[in-house]
Amino acid sequence: MSGGAGPFEILLAWSDRVLPVAADTTALAALLAAGIAVEPGCMTGGCGMCVTAYVEGDLIHKDTCLSASERKHAFCPCVSRAGTRIVIAG
Ligand code: FES
Repeated sequence: MSGGAGPFEILLAWSDRVLPVAADTTALAALLAAGIAVEPGCMTGGCGMCVTAYVEGDLIHKDTCLSASERKHAFCPCVSRAGTRIVIAG
């Protein structure tokens, strides 16, 4: 498996809710299933429509639209993953 292909968790800081993201799904799918408002677009990391802010996590960025500085506080959940956990603050 390549880096970032495994399962991880998304912690919703405002509710202490933990969303598991299985190896065969995306963070975007997990957020949408939980009722979080994320706008899906290209689903390939290029358009930036799904960009979501995070406050903490061992992110594995796979997008092609965010700058290095943007990646410090935002990620594209359609393609990007984490080693273990992403915390989003809403
Ligand atoms: S949907 Fe286009 S970057 Fe995520």
